[in-house]
Amino acid sequence: MGKPSVYVTRDIGPEALAVLKKHCNVTMWHEPMNPVPRDELIKNIAGKDALLCLLTDTIDVDVLNAAGPYLKIVSTMSVGFDHLDVREMKRRSIKVAHTPNVSTDSVAELTVTLLLVTCRRLPEASEAARNGEWKTWSPFWLCGPSLNNSTVGIVGFGRIGQQVAQRVKAFNLKSLLYYDQYEKKREAKELGAELVSLDELLTRSDFVIATCVLIPETAKMFNDEVFQKMKPTAVFINTSRGGVVDQDALIRALKTKTIFAAGIDVTVPEPLPTDNELFKLNNCVVLPHVGSATIGARNAMAMLAVNNVLAALRGERIPAEVVE
Ligand code: DGY
Repeated sequence: MGKPSVYVTRDIGPEALAVLKKHCNVTMWHEPMNPVPRDELIKNIAGKDALLCLLTDTIDVDVLNAAGPYLKIVSTMSVGFDHLDVREMKRRSIKVAHTPNVSTDSVAELTVTLLLVTCRRLPEASEAARNGEWKTWSPFWLCGPSLNNSTVGIVGFGRIGQQVAQRVKAFNLKSLLYYDQYEKKREAKELGAELVSLDELLTRSDFVIATCVLIPETAKMFNDEVFQKMKPTAVFINTSRGGVVDQDALIRALKTKTIFAAGIDVTVPEPLPTDNELFKLNNCVVLPHVGSATIGARNAMAMLAVNNVLAALRGERIPAEVVE
């Protein structure tokens, strides 16, 4: 019997690819900075046993139909799987896998970095130093809020939210709040975090950090009403998915100074067009979805995505199966 066939939608690095190629016939989209065009994906998925994809690939009924009856697993090199039609995959008995845990620290580090960069206005400060706006030291020039003695509210207290909590605790907080559909009693106790309602979190927090998953219940949950409940001095950070924010409402909130600033690593769409209003606001820091962008995390994500594929093809327990 020949090797199983796998379509890989981007170069996932030599280490992980070598393992995959040892056991499978691999076809791959080679352009590192361009997602595979839809027609190319549809053409190449036909007859494959497995698909290894990224968060930039929408895998829906049309792709599954094009794949045909041999497809056994869709393995995404990402924690989030809102780009996959999981229900349809389950209906067809196609396994679904993702890459949790291995990028948690990297995303948590980036979240805290973005928080500090945003509240201390570093892009603005750096630009001012470079463009001659820096005329003198001035008492209140480029000031922002401090984390010291502040209240931080984390929306979505999963692995990443908890690791963000662990890190921000080092800043001598007054209070650490979280909002989650599940009470994480043990973890919250260890971290000294208090479960509160969303309203309480919004009204009490100086920093509101979104680390929640994008599901129908969280889609556009950060809307006008939510931003209006935040303090005018609040800083909003989002490293989860752009879809949890009503982006027009965020633009309004930033323009009208309903909140102080925002730092976002995720947007709708991605990439965010360069003429988007958010890029014109000096109280908004936009990053190009780099939460997990450490070499170690990305290699580990690639390797886990490969191991998920191999396990499914062998009929073994999948290391990180999506079970809904
Ligand atoms: C994920 O893994 O879902 C992140 O958003 C990309 O690192």
